[in-house]
Amino acid sequence: MKIDLNEILYAFSLGLDAAEYEFLGVTPGHAKRIAAMSILVGKAIGLSDNELIDIAAYSILHDNALTEFNQEELEYMKYNGGRTYSPIDFMIRHCTIGEINTKLLPFRTNNRDVILYHHENADGTGPFRKVAQRTPIKSQIIHLGDMIDTHFNLLDPSEGNLQAINDYVRANTGTLFSPEVANAFSKAVKKKQMKVFQFTNIDGFLRSSIKHHQDEYTPQEVHNLATLMARIIDFKSHYTCKHSLGVATKAEIMAIHYNFNQEKTIRYYLAGALHDVGKLMIQNSILKKPARLTDEEFLIMKNHAHYTFEILRNLKGMQDIATWASHHHEKLNGTGYPFGLSAKDLSLEERLMTCVDIYQALTEERFYKEGFSHQQTIQMMYEMARKGELDESIIEEVNAVFRFYHLESQPSVTEILRADMV
Ligand SMILES: [Fe+2]
Ligand SMILES: [Fe+2]
Ligand SMILES: [Fe+2]
Ligand SMILES: [Fe+2]
Repeated sequence: MKIDLNEILYAFSLGLDAAEYEFLGVTPGHAKRIAAMSILVGKAIGLSDNELIDIAAYSILHDNALTEFNQEELEYMKYNGGRTYSPIDFMIRHCTIGEINTKLLPFRTNNRDVILYHHENADGTGPFRKVAQRTPIKSQIIHLGDMIDTHFNLLDPSEGNLQAINDYVRANTGTLFSPEVANAFSKAVKKKQMKVFQFTNIDGFLRSSIKHHQDEYTPQEVHNLATLMARIIDFKSHYTCKHSLGVATKAEIMAIHYNFNQEKTIRYYLAGALHDVGKLMIQNSILKKPARLTDEEFLIMKNHAHYTFEILRNLKGMQDIATWASHHHEKLNGTGYPFGLSAKDLSLEERLMTCVDIYQALTEERFYKEGFSHQQTIQMMYEMARKGELDESIIEEVNAVFRFYHLESQPSVTEILRADMV
């Protein structure tokens, strides 16, 4: 499948930023600003084109483990009298999980330990006590961007702000930052470059400053990318911690059942993985509410489908995925959201995604309910079909496929079906 990995990650960063804002109070646009800063500094250091593409991608993903870490910490608190992780443990854990998560992604250059060491200080006082000479250059550059963006407002392009940033970098050279990275920063970021960080300029800069483009990725590589994104989304709230992955897997199984070709099947898996990406932009007080939502809260929750559309809509060559993903709450009788589409507008793929999402949501356990059995779920779905919401013929197929494969602990189903496919 042809994808532009960086474009997907830039789009996904909207959701990651929203999570980082909620957990750490970092201003929206953080990940893209670090990507832009990394490109500027990386060029001054002499990174190759492929390394620049990768460092931009890694900048977006530097805190990919934040939602997962948050869940881990909640578990920890449960068994430790409400005590949270220490700041150093926070550093070590989110770097470690983040490194593991990105290991299987299809990057172009050697990126070993880039995420693992993105909080190391040049003098060896960081979480893993690595001095600059033992820290990958990409980690050092991301660390610099991260520190600057969390200490200064890069949306202020004034001379005074630039001066203050330069003073900060100089004062911390040899301690937080290596002379190599600090010098590259002062060479690369002048008054003109401060404009790059503005919301109106940053997308253009990320696109034009490095030559990333669509490349052919194997189904397994796309699978790995989709699974990582699904995990990030799912960990936002542990009441739904397998939901996106469950939808992706079942969407893939149904795609194979419907004889979609291999390319379309992997695209459908990706759409399933991303269908709730908009939930990253919904605050946890609503996502994690340990009870049913009030009408007002439900109204806010419903926005997630529109956010999914906003995040995916501009991805070149992925219009089908954006559509399959963001229409999963549309109903045949026009009562769904976010666009109130009806039968004439909804293709088989969209109708199927809706059914898979509902099937997954009903069968999985939530805080306020046990998972329904396969039989109960199918009955409820037929009820929805009778009201004109769902496509009855698709429910029949979902019933046929999952009747015997319902158990969550059946990881081999996809494998079996995929083996059938080749
Ligand atoms: Fe971090
Ligand atoms: Fe950060
Ligand atoms: Fe949804
Ligand atoms: Fe969903």
